[in-house]
Amino acid sequence: METLKNKKVVIIGGTSGIGLATAKLATLKGANIIIASSNQQRVDNALQELPNESKGYAVDATNESQLKILFEKIGSFDHLIFTAGEGLILENIADASLETAQKFFNVRYWGAFTAVKYAIPYIRTTGSITLTSGIASERPNKGWTLSASICAAMEGFTRALAMELAPIRVNIVSPGMVKTALWSAMPDIDRQAMYTNVGNALLVKRVGEAADVAKTFIYLMEQDFGTGQTLIVDGGTSLI
Ligand SMILES: NC(=O)c1ccc[n+]([C@@H]2O[C@H](COP(=O)([O-])OP(=O)(O)OC[C@H]3O[C@@H](n4cnc5c(N)ncnc54)[C@H](OP(=O)(O)O)[C@@H]3O)[C@@H](O)[C@H]2O)c1
Repeated sequence: METLKNKKVVIIGGTSGIGLATAKLATLKGANIIIASSNQQRVDNALQELPNESKGYAVDATNESQLKILFEKIGSFDHLIFTAGEGLILENIADASLETAQKFFNVRYWGAFTAVKYAIPYIRTTGSITLTSGIASERPNKGWTLSASICAAMEGFTRALAMELAPIRVNIVSPGMVKTALWSAMPDIDRQAMYTNVGNALLVKRVGEAADVAKTFIYLMEQDFGTGQTLIVDGGTSLI
């Protein structure tokens, strides 16, 4: 069913992983897609995987003026999704460099903050914003202080936005481990071993695929009544 027929959906971080999977699924539901990320080549590659009418722009989510110009160019639209992010350093707080740790807020937190700020005048009142957290806030492990802090900040930001921007609905998706390019810095053999070990420990006996999480983003655009919520999709991570 084309539940998003003729809806204009903007996905910052839509060139890879969860964002690209959401873009693909949204087009099957009838949406018109606009993707953005910082690397032109990745934008071009992603557009090859989407219908011809889809649009893509190279925009760095840490660059305020690029985001402002992006939304001026796009004009009115229905749904904003923010999935931009990079692999984080996982380390104990005693070993953390404060300067490096602070920089990791730039894309995921400040990027989302800036994107929402400049998107607001253009989002239809029947539309929605869906942001990205992670299970680190709910169920942290040792070495996850940075990741947990960013995710918790994003979830509080989401609730505050839901109050401030109503009737626009604002929600956030919190995935567990998902097989995407986010983990590509790890050697292949270590990454596969991590997926297997983490997957075996999960209630669903596997780590997530980008398409699993994409379904959650689609649901949050389709539904009309929930706002200010964190929707966890983690294979049961938060229960073990
Ligand atoms: N994969 C997981 O296990 C997992 C678990 C929990 C939460 N998450 C969160 O889910 C979100 C999506 O991650 P993913 O797994 O789909 O990773 P991914 O495949 O690496 O995708 C990340 C996307 O963010 C874009 N991006 C990175 N820096 C950017 C910047 N400065 N400006 C604009 N776009 C930027 C990337 O494109 P460019 O490189 O072209 O900029 C890419 O499109 C992230 O916030 C991640 O932290 C992931």
